[in-house]
Amino acid sequence: MTTANRTFDVERPIGVAVLGMGNVGTEVVRILRDHADDLHSRVGAPVVLRGVAVRNLDKDRGLPADLVTTDAEALVAREDVDIVVEVIGGIDPPRALILAALNAGKSVVTANKALLADYTGELAEAAERSRADLYFEAAVAGAIPVVRPLMQSLAGDRVDRVIGIVNGTTNFILSAMDETGANYSEMLAEATRLGYAEADPTADVEGFDAAAKAAILASLAFHTRVTAADVYREGISKVTADDLAIASALGCTVKLLALCERVTDPEGKERISVRVYPALVQREHPLATVNGAFNAVVVEAANAGRLMFYGQGAGGAPTASAVMGDLVMASRNKFYGGRGPGESTYAKLPIAPMGDTPTRYLVNLHVADRPGVLSGVAAEFASRDVSISTVRQEGAGDGARLLVLTHLATDSALTETVAALSELDFVIAVNSVLRLEGTEE
Ligand code: NDP
Ligand code: HSE
Repeated sequence: MTTANRTFDVERPIGVAVLGMGNVGTEVVRILRDHADDLHSRVGAPVVLRGVAVRNLDKDRGLPADLVTTDAEALVAREDVDIVVEVIGGIDPPRALILAALNAGKSVVTANKALLADYTGELAEAAERSRADLYFEAAVAGAIPVVRPLMQSLAGDRVDRVIGIVNGTTNFILSAMDETGANYSEMLAEATRLGYAEADPTADVEGFDAAAKAAILASLAFHTRVTAADVYREGISKVTADDLAIASALGCTVKLLALCERVTDPEGKERISVRVYPALVQREHPLATVNGAFNAVVVEAANAGRLMFYGQGAGGAPTASAVMGDLVMASRNKFYGGRGPGESTYAKLPIAPMGDTPTRYLVNLHVADRPGVLSGVAAEFASRDVSISTVRQEGAGDGARLLVLTHLATDSALTETVAALSELDFVIAVNSVLRLEGTEE
């Protein structure tokens, strides 16, 4: 059996290099070694760990010393390495290492959403040239199979919408704040200790990680190359205990959502909207019950209807499960010949600006408690064609506040309204603005 650059026979093991041995890499190596016999049977040939690349040789890895190296480049280049698993994270050096592997005809399995969100095109083209596999199931939603369903199971359908909770760290923090009133910083430290957070957790709490995943999901769903820069992004660092208490009083919780959808512009042309932000979600919505480091992705397709994928979205072992699934697929392809699907970008749909996106706002205003305030606030909404759904006044005197929930309006009209409200003399402060998702009114 031949692949681009070598011939396999049943006697020849498939050689694997693992780049990175942190939260995920440690579990990948464990599974590779502990389940070698099963993997052999599932692939048809032995799958053998050739080496592990790390930064620090002084840490005890529980591996023979000759398997551990700091020279990732040399490991990738070894003749007996057929598949490279990249679980280092970040852009450099993974980008160069993956390109070197692909250019040499070696297949690559990666969990690196930050890299994929900006460089899938370059990596996919290299894979295409050398007829190698580039698999990345672990890059979105940890253990949950969602990349393969979008790329393969739904390849004959038309996906209209993907909405999900795709960051475990922020969901862990928001759930704890909601359920027990836990403290934001303590929960972030705990998420880091449990191996959920990125090396720099700013990527989690400011929504960069979820935006990278949204870019990957939108690319797959809409056959269009979407990068992180195309994704509108807000994180959870400004979400307060007060926001969660208000949400609760309204029968909602707060979730960091990734939303990818087909939308129609005023001329009737199709575009896509890709965005990440914390939003109010009604308690009866399926996503409201997704707690802790769990993730869920809801896919709406023309013929399949609504599908929901749910499971552990972060952590070493769950993520390693997804990596191992890809590794088995890549190994089988090496052994039997053939390759997995490449990138599909034929649709080339334009990205809709955030300002055009219809959304609903809950605006929390600290106001002076005097006659005329309510009508003054309402006038700002009305003058921008934003219809109000409900208004609730809480407190009195110095503690008076108005909670204004709108109907659907464009995000630009809502942004302008909030900016105008903040200029009014009777508006002491705009305490917070949160979007409401999952309702169409
Ligand atoms: P960690 O920070 O725990 O581990 C990174 C590993 O890479 C460490 O072993 C580190 O070495 C090694 N490393 C760093 N720089 C180099 C280098 N220049 N050369 C060789 N090795 C290097 O990361 P995670 O395991 O948490 O994440 C890995 C990847 O998986 C990231 O892309 C992440 O986004 C992704 N991912 C993570 C998930 C999770 O829940 N943690 C879930 C889904 C995806 P050393 O040990 O010596 O420091
Ligand atoms: N930091 C990521 C998260 C890891 O919390 O979801 C999984 O991609």
